[in-house]
Amino acid sequence: MIIEPRMRGFICLTAHPDGCAQNVKNQIEYVKSKGTINGPKKVLVIGASTGFGLASRITAAYGSGAATIGVFFEKAPTAGKTASPGWYNSAAFEHEAHEAGLYAKSINGDAFSKEIKERTLATIKADLGQVDLVIYSLASPVRKHPDTEVLHRSTLKPIGGTYTNKTVDFHTGNVSEISIEPATDEDIANTVAVMGGEDWAMWIDALKAENLLAEGAKTVAYSYIGPSLTEAVYRKGTIGRAKDDLEATAFTIADKLKDINGKAYVSVNKALVTQASSAIPVIPLYISLLYKIMKEEGIHEGTIEQIQRLYAERLYTGSDVPVDEQGRIRIDDWEMREDVQAKVAKLWQEATTETLPAIGDLAGYRSDFLSLFGFEIDKVDYQKDANELVEIEGSV
Ligand code: NAD
Ligand code: NA
Repeated sequence: MIIEPRMRGFICLTAHPDGCAQNVKNQIEYVKSKGTINGPKKVLVIGASTGFGLASRITAAYGSGAATIGVFFEKAPTAGKTASPGWYNSAAFEHEAHEAGLYAKSINGDAFSKEIKERTLATIKADLGQVDLVIYSLASPVRKHPDTEVLHRSTLKPIGGTYTNKTVDFHTGNVSEISIEPATDEDIANTVAVMGGEDWAMWIDALKAENLLAEGAKTVAYSYIGPSLTEAVYRKGTIGRAKDDLEATAFTIADKLKDINGKAYVSVNKALVTQASSAIPVIPLYISLLYKIMKEEGIHEGTIEQIQRLYAERLYTGSDVPVDEQGRIRIDDWEMREDVQAKVAKLWQEATTETLPAIGDLAGYRSDFLSLFGFEIDKVDYQKDANELVEIEGSV
């Protein structure tokens, strides 16, 4: 069928299989163009179908020839109805990897559940024996706790007071003021339950208990800090509490991995357009200004550039992994450069509906957003009938 983008609020209801496949191919080509990384060989990626997790899977496979198992939660296609983009990305990745002679299997289901953990562990045991890298890249609005069965919902709220600032509706370009009421203690606890470190630790405990982590194995989860502009709603808000918890969990996991010489890290990544970040108020305006500056400076990166750099210049250099004073890997270094942030802060003051098209990269934001769903990708023929019913070859 002919597939077009269908928007509802901050989400796109359709995805294009050929566009998603082209995105994956482009990422593969990028990693290949950067040369071999003396990296991991057997990799588990939790949250492997989109964003930073997909880039992590592609970099492992095509940077260092790794066998990969990807866990994700995506919607399968039905006749006349497209799958979610992560489904098509994973179908394309599996297909490409198999053609290249790389082991790749995928597990589609709730990573927070005991059942999906068990299925993943059984697959590692049967096929790989052990893994030497575990990437934790989930972004989810909800988590059903596996022990209590309580359904926790994360929120994006400030803590301690109402937050008022500018935001943009990136579809219309309309800049307006938004006020967000402060979180309750329950909001904070729920957000930490969903996006904090507990589930990451549960995965590592389960893998370790079954001796599925190789000597010297690494595990990495992703975090964000960002500028003072967004602090109240991000790093000092509910999601920030969850990231504090995630970062603290890296230390407790690192302690548990000492006997196998394993390491646990949080990598602080750059702000990028993903399905997760486009739903956060204020962030799209920040990103559209940031993109403008970083592109002008020639230092703009997407998820694949970020993760290729993470593997090649942080995790697998052959020497110690460089970290900040709080033990975190920083690949948000170019975003956080003083000159970049000073320029963004200045533009922020000037941003209105009228000025934004010129001073911000709204077009870049929109096009990145559409490309998440496989639309507006070069080399894709959107007039051609697309097969929405693509299967994932290595589905377990
Ligand atoms: P994303 O939405 O692109 O990816 C989320 C992944 O999690 C997908 O593979 C999805 O299928 C999977 N997932 C969600 N719920 C699941 C569940 N219950 N079970 C199994 N899989 C599930 O998000 P992203 O932006 O790549 O975020 C990944 C991590 O990177 C998050 O921790 C996020 O906070 C962090 N991060 C994001 C940014 C940014 O600007 N986007 C910046 C820095 C750090
Ligand atoms: Na991800």
